[in-house]
Amino acid sequence: MIMNNFIVLEGLDGSGTTTQAKLLAQHLNGVFTFEPSDNAVGTLIRQILRKEKSVTADTLAYLFKADRCEHLFGKDGIKQQINDGKTVVCDRYLFSSLAYQSLDCDFDEIYQLNKDFPLPETVFFIDTPVEECLKRIGTRGSEPELFEKAELQRKIYDNYLRGFAAFNEINLIKLDGTKSIEELLEEELKIIGK
Ligand code: TYD
Repeated sequence: MIMNNFIVLEGLDGSGTTTQAKLLAQHLNGVFTFEPSDNAVGTLIRQILRKEKSVTADTLAYLFKADRCEHLFGKDGIKQQINDGKTVVCDRYLFSSLAYQSLDCDFDEIYQLNKDFPLPETVFFIDTPVEECLKRIGTRGSEPELFEKAELQRKIYDNYLRGFAAFNEINLIKLDGTKSIEELLEEELKIIGK
């Protein structure tokens, strides 16, 4: 099922999804949101990503699913915002689970876990070369998180392509992540028709 007025940005760590999602939401007078979310499950996920807690790869995949379920259907969640007539722009969604969780779990298992969630009207994939992403992450000055390493990022990129192919009904727009912030935003607005 496609959910109208629901837009998702996807990309590698450091590709610029957060910047673009925030700007796009602002320009559309919409709501900016993100996954992992800031609900109870999302908060636990962030502790795991910072390596403060450890769970199995399967458990992490279930947690992402639980976080997504609450983010979509919980109080003030995506569904409610859309029903209230808002446009929702989300930084990462189930395509991130396919890209990242299938590093350590079976791709089909992650697909099965996520296949029944509503799909966004448009997915922008910010295609930024791994080297550029790592350079940007490096300048953040913080400890690398669980998935922020070169070989892993290459595999994540391949998993993204596999994930998008598995959802061939989505309106997937690939954007050149080496373009400027303003150029990317302009392209997104043009595609959405605003
Ligand atoms: P990220 O958007 O990079 O958050 P921040 O910029 O605030 O650190 O997301 C955190 C990490 O979560 C990122 O490495 C991708 C990962 N992730 C998954 O592994 N699976 C998922 O389903 C989602 C939504 C994110």
